Amino acid sequence: MSAARAAIVTGASSGIGLAIARVLAEEGFGITMAARRPEKLETAVQGLAAEGFDVQAVAANVADEAEIQKVVAAHRDRYGRLDVLVNNAGVGVGASVAEIETKRLDMQLNINLRSIVLFYRECIGLLKEAAAEHKNVLVVNTSSISGKHGEPWLSVYSATKHGVVGWTESMNKELGGEGIKSTALCPAFVDTPMTDFVKGQVPPEQMIRPEDVAEAVRYMLKVSPACVIPEMMFVRPGEAL
Ligand SMILES: NC(=O)c1ccc[n+]([C@@H]2O[C@H](COP(=O)([O-])OP(=O)(O)OC[C@H]3O[C@@H](n4cnc5c(N)ncnc54)[C@H](OP(=O)(O)O)[C@@H]3O)[C@@H](O)[C@H]2O)c1
Repeated sequence: MSAARAAIVTGASSGIGLAIARVLAEEGFGITMAARRPEKLETAVQGLAAEGFDVQAVAANVADEAEIQKVVAAHRDRYGRLDVLVNNAGVGVGASVAEIETKRLDMQLNINLRSIVLFYRECIGLLKEAAAEHKNVLVVNTSSISGKHGEPWLSVYSATKHGVVGWTESMNKELGGEGIKSTALCPAFVDTPMTDFVKGQVPPEQMIRPEDVAEAVRYMLKVSPACVIPEMMFVRPGEAL
């Protein structure tokens, strides 16, 4: 029998996305998990499947419109409904303004921001169907603390993550009344492969845990239809905001 509730999680093969997928699985969701590298994704999905969770892998590059459509089609075929969409895939490339390469600029815009717009568009029919049923559909968009204040040398990344916060606000105004709630997650350093570059200066044990962020999603699932959480920040103790 198909799951009573279903979710799509992008960037689900490691870090924050995998931790969120685990929480959704524990909460009884059937999940389509997407990321680019098939072997890494398969390992993550098999890990959850081995625990008895209902998950499927769809290898896809979210920078590619056709691949986004492939993820949504595979999800519809398997589960036929979409109650939670987690737009989490993202990449960051540091560069001074003079050294910004067009290819890397486009890559960050496409993965971090454009893909989120396209996922909403491709999923809106399914999201509206679920919202008509229970008025408590959730779309989680992973921004960053860099989406709240600009970072030097990570300027393009910061700009895309500010875009995610702005897009989330727009979606709450446009879709909130129908029961589709959007939340931007804005974490500082989280101990994932993405922060390996800085672990010489900031020890991993002093970083936010991926599970800290994922538990916020568990909480959001329990919030009543009368309450929207537009964004949530996660900072390290003593960190300046
Ligand atoms: N770690 C932090 O300190 C931190 C802080 C704030 C915000 N964030 C945000 O959190 C999100 C998750 O990052 P993370 O820290 O968990 O890093 P991570 O462990 O490196 O995970 C990134 C995930 O995204 C996938 N991904 C990357 N590019 C993709 C693409 N084009 N299409 C599909 N999947 C793609 C990766 O798999 P493949 O590479 O195989 O595709 C992986 O599953 C990102 O949006 C990031 O910007 C992270």
